[in-house]
Amino acid sequence: MLPGTTDLFPDADGPIFLGHCSVSPLYRTAARAIRDFTDDIAARGVGGLKNHFDILPRLHDNGARLLGCAAADISFVHNTAEALSMVANGYPFAPGDQIISYVHEYPSNHYPWVLQGRRGVELILLADRDPLGRSDPGNRPRGWSMDELEERVTARTRVVAISHVQFSSGYAADLRLLGGFCRERGIDLVVDCAQSLGCLPLRAEACHIAALAASGWKWLLGPWASGLLYTRSDFRRKLQPVMTGPGMMRQHLDYLDHRWNPHNDGRLFEYSTVAWDHAAGLNAVLEEVFLRFDGAAIRDEVFRLQEVFLAHCDPDLVRPLRFDRANRSGIVALEVGGDVGKIMPRLAAAGVVMTGPAGYLRLAPHFYQQDRQMIGAAAIVNRICAEQR
Ligand SMILES: Cc1ncc(COP(=O)(O)O)c(C=O)c1O
Repeated sequence: MLPGTTDLFPDADGPIFLGHCSVSPLYRTAARAIRDFTDDIAARGVGGLKNHFDILPRLHDNGARLLGCAAADISFVHNTAEALSMVANGYPFAPGDQIISYVHEYPSNHYPWVLQGRRGVELILLADRDPLGRSDPGNRPRGWSMDELEERVTARTRVVAISHVQFSSGYAADLRLLGGFCRERGIDLVVDCAQSLGCLPLRAEACHIAALAASGWKWLLGPWASGLLYTRSDFRRKLQPVMTGPGMMRQHLDYLDHRWNPHNDGRLFEYSTVAWDHAAGLNAVLEEVFLRFDGAAIRDEVFRLQEVFLAHCDPDLVRPLRFDRANRSGIVALEVGGDVGKIMPRLAAAGVVMTGPAGYLRLAPHFYQQDRQMIGAAAIVNRICAEQR
């Protein structure tokens, strides 16, 4: 356990939450920040807003510290799909251009690219491959390979759009390797970090990422419908706005000044009235938690807790899908033999929250949890998986 964790997360009783890859418990100070904003508006309407004018500038600073970039490169968004839609639809594609992605991406990082077919752009999907060459009788998602990516790249490849961490298998892209690969070839790397931000340390500039987007309510423990978008300044200049409104304009509150005068920083994507309450919640958890602890220490603690859980699992009942260290993430996909759709509600009834798309049960603990919770949860998983066989 990292020093100081129990002060911030005092309540270790109740259900054991191993689903940080889904919708996480909202951090308590984030919930308070949302309530404070809402109470002010409830009491004073527009008069209540003046206490909160710093919310977005603070979020830009906090996001920049988290990602190691300039505050000007950060935008508040409501979800990953919104961010990636603005990037994909605003990108200067020409007919015949290509985008490379992976066949089992989460929909928020799939449909925005599919839509580019309307502009004559080809979406190439990397096949599912186990990076360690293992076979899977269940035909479940595993990962993708750099070798295939290299084979599929052509002179028309403009964008590689990939998740940092795959939501189903937990396979993590090696972003330094991928970023270097894209940079050498003049390809823009766009990354869905919904399953990594708050769990794996991430440096956008060092990884040569053109844009990245993440949701706030998973590993960041923030509000539902909050998220961050990073755009590198030269990349942002290439994008056409596809959502427009007063929030993106320099004259913002001067509503009868209709000149086309947009910001050229991340405010370009905060096009109109945005959910300040959710942004305030995200600020609270970033300032109190994720900017306080070292990102590598958080990751290492998550990995350690995964190992505590796995060491207490019956290997005949629970088989983890493991990857090399560079491809490891906060999610360990478990093959459990029985029907995951039936196992999950039984686990929930027994006090263990785990989720499982694509036939896996996903183990996704977070750094603030305790060894005894991992051990208790493993015992419950063993029992229910044995009964469900
Ligand atoms: C890889 C990935 N991207 C994005 C999301 C969420 O997308 P959105 O923020 O659009 O709801 C998820 C949610 O599970 C995810 O796993």
